Amino acid sequence: MTDAVHYQREGRIAVLTLDRPPINALGHELRSALHDAFRRAQEDAGAEAIVIASRTRAFCGGADIGEFGSELTWRSPTLPELCDALEASAKPVVAALHGVALGGGLELALACDYRLADAGTRLGLPEVHLGLIPGAGGTQRLPRIAGVALALEMITSGKPISAAKAQAIGLIDRLVDEDPQVAALAYAEELLETGAPRRPCAGINVDTSGLGDDHFAEVREGLGAKTQGYVAPLACVDAVEEACRLPLDAGLAREREIFQACLDTPQARAQQHLFFAERQATRVPGVDPATPTRPIARVGIIGAGTMGGGIAMNFANAGIPVTLVEREAAALERGLATIRKHYEASARKGRLSEAQVEERMALLEGSLDDTALADADLVVEAVFESLEVKRQVFERLDAVCKPGAILASNTSTLDLDAIAGFTRRPQDVIGLHFFSPANVMRLLEIVRGAATADDVITTALKLARTIGKLPVVVGVCFGFVGNRMLEPYAREAHRLVLEGASPAQVDGALTGFGLAMGPLAMYDLAGIDVGYQVRESRREAIAHDPSYNLIGDRLYALGRYGQKTGRGFYRYEGRERLPDPEVDALAAEIAAELGIERREIGDEEIVARCVGMLVNEAADILEEGIAYRSGDCDLVWVNGYGFPAWRGGPLRYADEIGPARVLADIERHRDRLGAYGEMWFTPSPLLRRLVDEGRAFADLAPATAVS
Ligand code: COA
Repeated sequence: MTDAVHYQREGRIAVLTLDRPPINALGHELRSALHDAFRRAQEDAGAEAIVIASRTRAFCGGADIGEFGSELTWRSPTLPELCDALEASAKPVVAALHGVALGGGLELALACDYRLADAGTRLGLPEVHLGLIPGAGGTQRLPRIAGVALALEMITSGKPISAAKAQAIGLIDRLVDEDPQVAALAYAEELLETGAPRRPCAGINVDTSGLGDDHFAEVREGLGAKTQGYVAPLACVDAVEEACRLPLDAGLAREREIFQACLDTPQARAQQHLFFAERQATRVPGVDPATPTRPIARVGIIGAGTMGGGIAMNFANAGIPVTLVEREAAALERGLATIRKHYEASARKGRLSEAQVEERMALLEGSLDDTALADADLVVEAVFESLEVKRQVFERLDAVCKPGAILASNTSTLDLDAIAGFTRRPQDVIGLHFFSPANVMRLLEIVRGAATADDVITTALKLARTIGKLPVVVGVCFGFVGNRMLEPYAREAHRLVLEGASPAQVDGALTGFGLAMGPLAMYDLAGIDVGYQVRESRREAIAHDPSYNLIGDRLYALGRYGQKTGRGFYRYEGRERLPDPEVDALAAEIAAELGIERREIGDEEIVARCVGMLVNEAADILEEGIAYRSGDCDLVWVNGYGFPAWRGGPLRYADEIGPARVLADIERHRDRLGAYGEMWFTPSPLLRRLVDEGRAFADLAPATAVS
């Protein structure tokens, strides 16, 4: 017996209430309970209609993703069997929705005869984000109920729609303000009184009028660049196309085949890994998640440049007033004007109204005097990346900010503990490393210093959610997680150019692997001078390798700073990136100087060395406790550095091909690359241990403390 579903009779209506907090994930236990309750309602002679509702904060968040890959997914009653049973009901069934009806949750509702929802409900089929298609009738019933165009849009994008939109397209029959369960009872009574018919989907043909012969080919083409590399979006289109061709039962059978084919793929495993990684990332070892947070009603930002302005927009977008502090009036005006330009561009695209532009601008106040930060609850500095400059800023913040204010640095590489040491309140200091453009990029590395107070961490996590960011808490080291992993990856990319690969070949091999942008094109975009400055700050650590990013240093010396000077690893005509023979010649010259043999290099070697180094560095980061779990490293690289989500991140990729292969590749390159290999291709002890123990990165228990 289970209490996952409550059975109750209200007059002639049987009410089945789902009760598996938090979101009624449809694992085997809940499916069985619902199946049993549903059968009881069928057999209950006094029940003439059935209402399915929920007692938790959502109607249903869908299939239990944690069951995927285990035999529980297919243990009867499966989700498709449950939906088929609802569809075959002898009595009308009303679904009462609130919160979310997602994935299998919406599929359950689609198998009911009538759907009612409160205004806050969001309805969607997000399976595509998990590398899947809806597998319990969604691709077959939704086009029958709401039409092909909307079904394709919802299923291929995975984006939920509002209850109002759902009502407009016939997916919801009734929108209510009151408790949906109570409203559904009245609705079921009304349906019985008026003799409303059952509405099984089997009786509905998909309306294909108006669809040209090439409709689905065009849809596939239209998905193009947006979904490049992903298998599931096209599988979704295939399944909806089948709905147009086949009767319901045959369509459902095809849907199941396609679903199963998707389920057993590296992509589905990768995307499910990221789903859980995102949720685990908010758990910080040693910090009680119930720790009360500090109120953040006003934010200060120091520096109105690209980064400071972008960070400020995040808060203004969330309705939080911001004071932007700059030293020079001209820089402040420029910063505010740039923010306005961004908002006005959004307004032109229809994403904001003119009134909203003004509302957001009104939340931004400029000042040339840092004492304007006296009443800020949080101050984020986004000034030049130099410890000396940070010292000046933090000493001032310590002097002007009120007690309890959180003092945050946006540093991307510097020692946060040293920065905290510039104040008399290191417990209030934290790193908030936003990624550029800060108003767009979802990732937020939250850097936990040795002294950072627990409530400062919980406040930062809550704030991240408020401003729509994905937070990952990391420890202190050079570059934290993201930039530290970037360092050996980029080093290999530079070195491969000396060994004989062209910049276009290095970048092409990695974009071919799935990266959004090749590393050398990325350096051209970010600025060869920026990379040079970072190296300047740590020459000692790299001095033993004379080839270390030397081509970057030479490009810098030639004034080839990348896109901004029209020349870098490539030359640029407008926005077009073109190979530059001068760079190949420069590479050959450096190779000759250093005695590096130039040779043909295969794409496979480029990927194995660059990605292998990412994995190896991440392993060291885990070993040192700088990141708590492999999923954190993956989230950082997927959301901050363009690593393909369909591969799940560098460590998920390593788990997929097997840590043993990564280790073997590293050792092979170490042996082959002579003195250079000896210098850099040292396998991480953690990687070696995993191989010895036959384990994967995902098997590691989360680190308990960050050094
Ligand atoms: N299967 C298994 N667990 C699920 C789940 C699902 N379909 N949906 C949510 N959960 C779990 C989360 O992992 C989390 O667990 P945790 O507290 O142990 O970390 C918990 O339920 C709450 O989810 P969370 O995302 O933190 O809550 P939220 O209120 O922000 O969002 C949803 C709720 C339902 C909108 C969101 O969880 C979601 O989008 N779920 C996936 C929906 C989906 O893809 N369904 C199709 C499955 S094929």
